[in-house]
Amino acid sequence: MNAPLRILISGQQGQVSQALQQHLQNMGELIVLGRDQLDLSQPESIRPVVRDIKPDLIVNAAAHTAVDQAESEPELAFAINATSPGVFAEEAAALGIPLVHYSTDYVFDGSKAGAWIESDVPNPLGVYGSSKLAGERAIAAAGGQHLILRTSWVYSLTGRNFLLTMQRLLQERERLSIVADQIGAPTWAGTIAASTGALIERWRDGAAGAWGVYHLTARGETSWFGFAEAIGQQLINSGKPCAVLEPIASSAYPTPAARPLNSRLDCSRLQCEWGVSQPDWHDALLECLAQQR
Ligand SMILES: NC(=O)c1ccc[n+]([C@@H]2O[C@H](COP(=O)([O-])OP(=O)(O)OC[C@H]3O[C@@H](n4cnc5c(N)ncnc54)[C@H](OP(=O)(O)O)[C@@H]3O)[C@@H](O)[C@H]2O)c1
Repeated sequence: MNAPLRILISGQQGQVSQALQQHLQNMGELIVLGRDQLDLSQPESIRPVVRDIKPDLIVNAAAHTAVDQAESEPELAFAINATSPGVFAEEAAALGIPLVHYSTDYVFDGSKAGAWIESDVPNPLGVYGSSKLAGERAIAAAGGQHLILRTSWVYSLTGRNFLLTMQRLLQERERLSIVADQIGAPTWAGTIAASTGALIERWRDGAAGAWGVYHLTARGETSWFGFAEAIGQQLINSGKPCAVLEPIASSAYPTPAARPLNSRLDCSRLQCEWGVSQPDWHDALLECLAQQR
């Protein structure tokens, strides 16, 4: 049997952090730090905390994820999403331990015809994507063992996300217009946490693949409209009211930050290098909803 791990997880209430707290709980001791204990807007405050805890592994699940808000507070977004991940990576490298970090489809501009692979050239459309890309680069520059897992369209049964917002609006409204020209893979936080757990197990078993950047989303693809339809179908199946959905173009729903039209991420490298794969987005949605009381 493997020795228990001491795992530092940043972020406490976040979707991915909450899922990690469930999925990693049997691996050892989880030291979960919310922003009250560790404020990533103050990057230098990270160093003494990591040195004091001396973890075997760091999982950075905290981020400035308010994509539109980031446009008006770039300094804060960069402190949390770029400088702090770099400090985590430097401290992890100094301890000789791995850092697991999450990034985003928003590092790309959405212009590619097919799914994005890890070596495609990023070109973020807004502050959030730029800050996350700067975080990726700061981690790589620290030179230690790291996994940067780019994911997309994250939802869960906690926090603020498209699933919970749609469940509410579809029952409140008679008609709802949803963007149909952005394509991607809705990814359950439970899927991200389960895959993270599998990656940690591979590393602990001495079967780690190469360190670096990987794509980690659910399989398959849909639009926000298609995702809303699937959520609505489950409401109908449980005898609940459901608005009539109307597809619209992104241009009809302007937001402070532009979104990539093609967010599809090719996840085959993670499968090849680490032997870890994800379920289809629709199957994962049903599994998530089965846990909703
Ligand atoms: N949400 C998406 O659709 C999406 C898509 C692609 C990639 N990602 C990436 O996936 C990762 C996880 O995202 P998520 O959806 O779980 O995010 P989330 O639900 O918005 O949670 C954000 C987390 O960041 C923490 N945080 C925010 N500001 C902080 C600060 N100043 N200091 C310390 N902690 C702070 C929050 O801390 P508290 O616990 O204290 O509130 C919370 O735990 C992030 O790296 C994100 O960029 C997300």
